[in-house]
Amino acid sequence: MRRLGILTGGGDCPGLNAVIRAVAKSAFYRHDIEIVGFNNGFKGLVENEAWLIGEEDVSGILHRGGTILGTTNRDNPFHYRVTGPDGNPSYEDRSADALRHLNEWDLDGLIVIGGDGSLTLALRFSKIGVPVIGIPKTIDNDLSATDVTFGFDTAAATATEAIDRLHTTAESHHRIMVLEVMGRNAGWIALQAGMAGGGDIILIPELPFDYEVIIEKIMQRRARGKKFSIVVAAEGVFPEGGSQVYQLAGGTKRLGGIGQVVAAELEKRTGMESRATVLGHLQRGGTPTVFDRVLATRFGAAAVELARAGRWNEMVCLQGGMIKSVSLADAVAQIKRIDPGCEQVQAALAVGTSFGRKL
Ligand code: F6P
Repeated sequence: MRRLGILTGGGDCPGLNAVIRAVAKSAFYRHDIEIVGFNNGFKGLVENEAWLIGEEDVSGILHRGGTILGTTNRDNPFHYRVTGPDGNPSYEDRSADALRHLNEWDLDGLIVIGGDGSLTLALRFSKIGVPVIGIPKTIDNDLSATDVTFGFDTAAATATEAIDRLHTTAESHHRIMVLEVMGRNAGWIALQAGMAGGGDIILIPELPFDYEVIIEKIMQRRARGKKFSIVVAAEGVFPEGGSQVYQLAGGTKRLGGIGQVVAAELEKRTGMESRATVLGHLQRGGTPTVFDRVLATRFGAAAVELARAGRWNEMVCLQGGMIKSVSLADAVAQIKRIDPGCEQVQAALAVGTSFGRKL
């Protein structure tokens, strides 16, 4: 094996640079393999924006957020957006260009670091003959084949710190403070940070909530002398019988805004002053935690070993504390969501946390 390609796709995430470093260093030092980086996810394959990564490029990046390769969560080569002379977009299949560029770079295989969307594209490329290895990345932690994705621990730590800080104002002003966190249709960040930060009410998309149950909890707390409450709401939550809240930006619908809706409704129904904070992309930025740096390094080194062993079209994963691998097809077969009966939810319930509905 002489040369591997690498790209980072989808939203950025703490630990991406740590993975790139691990792939490159283990390829260079252990196996004398060259690494070609494609810029900006799959767009780099289509546009042939690629470069030979040197040892100095991956030095000093272990702790840095973001990705030295750039990324995008658009630009699907099979449905590629092209802007016409009139400024209107149209879509073309540019996968043949991507294949040509991969061949021109004379690669033995391609390492794709991504979440559900990017790994689904990786699977599609594997089906047209590209040898691919996947590495699971996302702050959402919603990939079912791995116990955890890298980036999640950092995002949850950032959200936990936010809850700690919100406690100050909540307590001083006797307010309801609602923190909206990311996670798409999975509530992992809300659950993890909500538990770590001692959130009184945790709202997750897996358990549509009932305002009356939230209010009952807030009132119980008041009766015990706790004149404030912290609500941690995943961006994808919705009330029973209701729907998710989206923002429209540039013609694209994005999840977001439920925190404000919940805060306004709680203020109206309880008479208590309420505020919402949307943590947003702060969860994706900054230095990765110790856990994410180590996991990213283990994933990166393992991906190179998989490629060396010819175990193409697999994704590295963490299962029971061990680095293993699964087929890409299994990796993207279904999203991992919280089982409301799971031990973690039970532990939260045991310490008096409410999930905003009768359980
Ligand atoms: O998948 C990661 C994620 O941060 C989600 O939690 C969030 O819904 C989405 O990406 C936001 O994407 P964008 O950066 O495109 O707004």
